[in-house]
Amino acid sequence: MKNIIVLVSGGGTNLQALIDSQERGDIKGGRITCVISSKPGAYALERAAKHNIKTRVIARRDYSDTIEYSRAILSALDEEKADLVVYAGFMTILDELVVKAYPNKMMNVHPALIPSFCGKGYYGLRVHEEVLKKGVKLTGATVHFVTEVCDGGPIILQKAVEIQDGDTPEILQKRVMEQAEWKILPQAVSLFCEDKLEVRDGIVHIKN
Ligand code: GAR
Repeated sequence: MKNIIVLVSGGGTNLQALIDSQERGDIKGGRITCVISSKPGAYALERAAKHNIKTRVIARRDYSDTIEYSRAILSALDEEKADLVVYAGFMTILDELVVKAYPNKMMNVHPALIPSFCGKGYYGLRVHEEVLKKGVKLTGATVHFVTEVCDGGPIILQKAVEIQDGDTPEILQKRVMEQAEWKILPQAVSLFCEDKLEVRDGIVHIKN
């Protein structure tokens, strides 16, 4: 069984999708063993506690810089014997020392179809605001491996979602979560835990 560590900063609906999927038996070969939050009081911590999942708070505000914070996260991941690290609405930038220690073992869910609407400054509601400003007709979500390039790692799964008349950033965010993020994140985690993901030359291949 692989140890899945989930990193969160906020509401934790993606964490909830992972927990629900785990409870349905849909995550084969792994289990969530710890949830780490960068913010004390994040609702995601309550979601984990309700399901008897260990929680830890490593508050960003307690560290003076990114390197010190990244070292603290790295020691926690090592202590928890992480096999897979999932960024589920984790809104803190980590130094590359963390990704280098867990190559192709960290994944992130991003609320757009990468390479559109991604990179520095594109997070949370901001992404959906930009999508609506641009007037694209399709958006969606992407799960990708984390590398030192922000939102630039190998793409694991993507799902498209249509923009509708009258969408606000909030309405669109909810649709993207329901129709895409909450589906593809648990799927990607399960594929990883079943050893079905292979990365060759920066491309993810899914084995049968
Ligand atoms: C999700 O939409 C996630 O894709 C996004 O933040 C939200 C967190 O919601 N992440 C990013 O924008 C990262 N670049 P949640 O806490 O309810 O899962």
